[in-house]
Amino acid sequence: MARRPLVAGNWKMYKTAGEGAILVQNLEERVSGSWDQVEVAVCPPFTALKSVSTLIELDRLQISLGAQNVYWEEEGAFTGEVSPRMLAELRCDYVIVGHSERREFFGETNETVNKKVKAVFSEGMLPIVCVGESLATRDAEETDTFVREQVRGALEGIEADQATKLVVAYEPIWAIGTGRTPTPEGANDVCRSIRATVGAMFGPPAAMSLRILYGGSVKPENAKSFFGEPDIDGALVGGASLDADSFAEIVKAAV
Ligand code: PGA
Repeated sequence: MARRPLVAGNWKMYKTAGEGAILVQNLEERVSGSWDQVEVAVCPPFTALKSVSTLIELDRLQISLGAQNVYWEEEGAFTGEVSPRMLAELRCDYVIVGHSERREFFGETNETVNKKVKAVFSEGMLPIVCVGESLATRDAEETDTFVREQVRGALEGIEADQATKLVVAYEPIWAIGTGRTPTPEGANDVCRSIRATVGAMFGPPAAMSLRILYGGSVKPENAKSFFGEPDIDGALVGGASLDADSFAEIVKAAV
């Protein structure tokens, strides 16, 4: 992997502020020493961002921080939503945008994902843009077309230099939380296609620099096989990121 790999933990709706701080402390003990070679990020729920951010700052941990969602407006009467500036103030480096659970349960579309991507960049953070096909799309052999369309929709109108810093997570929906995964080669084929799509939109430098993560049932036992693929630059990890031991093993597999 020529690009610096990123292993990001998506905690979903797990961990209180206190539990999150403990998890990060345990993680730090297990992965410090890997920083030069791999970037590690945690994406807690909104309510745990402050405690984790404070811990990272006070203990000078080299762990990056991400949120799991954001709204695109700067401020306003949007009850229950959180703005990009609020996340930037908590020193978030990343925001996950367009996770399939948000598309499925909260009505996100390529259009709203695109607004969020732009809003995240505008506050100096980086989006982790999630794309991936359902089992029906896969069975119909339409994965490539579907994922390319998601990438084009999410990235329409961003600047080429923003595209170079971008992170895309390829997460087949049927692999999330199921224990099923594509073969590493199969996942790499889709990631290569994502890279080509970004290249066609923003030019070769963006295609070369953008990091593409694989996500969906990444575990200590299978992580290395995905990291060995040329177009896979790390992982977005759900379930296995909630346990310090298993997440640390996945991080070490990327070294
Ligand atoms: P999983 O989730 O690792 O539990 O499959 C991945 C994700 O949804 O980001």
